Amino acid sequence: MYERVEETAAAVRGRCGALPGTAIVLGSGLGDFADTLLDAVATPYGDLPHWPASQVVGHAGRLVIGNVAGKRIAALSGRVHFYEGYDLGTVVFATRVMGRLGVKRIILTNAAGGINTGFAQGALMIIDDHINMLGSNPLVGSNDDRVGPRFPDMSEVYSARLRTIADDAARAKGVQVSHGIYIAVHGPSYETPAEIRFFRTIGADAVGMSTVPEAIAARHMGLEVLGISCITNMAAGVLPQPLVHDEVIDTARRVRGSFIALLEGIIERL
Ligand code: HPA
Repeated sequence: MYERVEETAAAVRGRCGALPGTAIVLGSGLGDFADTLLDAVATPYGDLPHWPASQVVGHAGRLVIGNVAGKRIAALSGRVHFYEGYDLGTVVFATRVMGRLGVKRIILTNAAGGINTGFAQGALMIIDDHINMLGSNPLVGSNDDRVGPRFPDMSEVYSARLRTIADDAARAKGVQVSHGIYIAVHGPSYETPAEIRFFRTIGADAVGMSTVPEAIAARHMGLEVLGISCITNMAAGVLPQPLVHDEVIDTARRVRGSFIALLEGIIERL
């Protein structure tokens, strides 16, 4: 794994110009942010060695490195998911490459279902902490001590410093944000109403099928992590209607403006 990550990082280094200090993973329907980068170099994932490509609608699949507010950023438009059949080591491959490239922090964004009934569709939630219900962990298997420790601490996965910066940015940009706990499930089927009631009982505010593996791998490497969920739909059973993926994409596109403003405000403050 170490060698493959190094090979991919070398390929990225060879074409990106100045190295990025921050990586941003763009969730379902949130990829438009990548178009706002200046002096950008865009590379389809397929052109990078070993890089897994997603088949999911709403995930363009390209790495864009460019400038926002005078800072060099790597925007990952599209990610692969556990439910696509990839093992979690592959799911976090891109995170590993970013760490190897030398980024200091990673901003993980996603589309999520709202469990907290105080949330409205289209709300943006800063992730304060997570619950891993994937039934596995990206660090399973032998540990490479060059990358990180065998038993990494997870008491502050989502950096308090970056969460404060996100709040400041939201206030300055006039974007409303909430805070909450993200629970990661395997998918790809959506949850049952009983599962959502269970998740609410154990303290979750939003549910999704990504982010947690990348957050764990990023902390393993010592990166600072910020997580932002776009509440694209209310979770199963909250409203008397079925869940459809089109709604997820439509809502994410609808909040595009405030999502991009929030990200810009955060980057300005890094
Ligand atoms: N459940 C799981 N994942 C999701 C959802 C949901 O309701 N919405 C967007 N991603």
